[in-house]
Amino acid sequence: MAILVSGGAGYIGSVTVERLHAKGERVVVLDDLFRGHRGAVELGIPFHKGSVGDRELVARIAAEHKIDACVHFAALAYVGESVAQPARYFENNVEQGVAFMGALLAAGVRRVVFSSTCATYGEPEQVPIPETCPQWPVNPYGWSKLFMERLLASYDVAHGLKFMALRYFNAAGATERNGEDHEPESHLVPNVLNVALGQRPVLSVFGNRYPTPDGTPIRDYVHVGDLADAHILALEHLRSGGDSDFLNLGTGHGYSVLEVIECARRVTGHAVPIRIEGPRPGDPARLVADAVKAQRVLHWKPVASEMTSILQSQWEWRRKHPQGYGSVQ
Ligand SMILES: NC(=O)c1ccc[n+]([C@@H]2O[C@H](COP(=O)([O-])OP(=O)(O)OC[C@H]3O[C@@H](n4cnc5c(N)ncnc54)[C@H](O)[C@@H]3O)[C@@H](O)[C@H]2O)c1
Repeated sequence: MAILVSGGAGYIGSVTVERLHAKGERVVVLDDLFRGHRGAVELGIPFHKGSVGDRELVARIAAEHKIDACVHFAALAYVGESVAQPARYFENNVEQGVAFMGALLAAGVRRVVFSSTCATYGEPEQVPIPETCPQWPVNPYGWSKLFMERLLASYDVAHGLKFMALRYFNAAGATERNGEDHEPESHLVPNVLNVALGQRPVLSVFGNRYPTPDGTPIRDYVHVGDLADAHILALEHLRSGGDSDFLNLGTGHGYSVLEVIECARRVTGHAVPIRIEGPRPGDPARLVADAVKAQRVLHWKPVASEMTSILQSQWEWRRKHPQGYGSVQ
């Protein structure tokens, strides 16, 4: 039996594929390479270039590889882009997501680990954010993910589909083999390192008058390797008959934008010039997970998510791959 990883050529997907493969699992990747990289997946791992909305392709893959579980990463994932082009997000993440889950069910697949997000909470009523916090997204990206969470819960009731919806906070860091290579890049950590590398002259900091100690927004960063491990534990949970659930993947500890920049200066030994700009609409002051449920249900504990480790790993990867996967050295 094998695990189908959709979006396995993307950032978090590729690290999860790497770790599943290292554990001796049979893994198959489906990715349209719109935002992923063929070089992010080792050559010996079965790879299908195509879209998750292609039911025939999914049926063929499921039969050929005897798929019994799926980790569904594939999605468009930029908040700003989703505000400007909502239809793309609903078509790609929801319409194709519905087709994908339908094809998996038709093929007899009953175990799904799904990439959800803290963006489903919108402006949270309470921080640290527990899984029981009301979900009211503030952008189409968040809605597209919340819709898929609801779909999974309905398919559990109707069809016995068992799922784990993992609500990630901010993924960051790299393994020796795989790292973050997005174009355009909207995440703080890679952008800080781009400036440290001299690829960009200055880092924009959006807002410094938030109600936080240094005035910049606070986020909960999780090392991508820790996230990958949580997916492996979630698969084990489902395989051993565990119930469907919704879990935050965060550390419970937040870093402000200025704290991340200061740490990057220390780790890289380079200057990181900044320019303060206006706040971005819909950017909450503080997003930090209440992370105890994932520890309780999956026995998951982040081991590499301290900011220095995150930055060191990502800095090493960036120096080896200054042009991302286009420049493997
Ligand atoms: N990066 C984060 O901090 C973060 C936080 C919360 C949630 N997430 C979620 O985690 C998942 C992975 O995020 P990432 O940062 O690795 O993103 P990514 O863009 O690097 O990876 C997504 C992959 O999915 C592929 N893809 C997209 N739509 C597809 C489709 N219709 N068919 C086939 N392939 C498709 C892309 O080509 C890409 O390789 C996403 O679902 C995202 O919403 C990410």
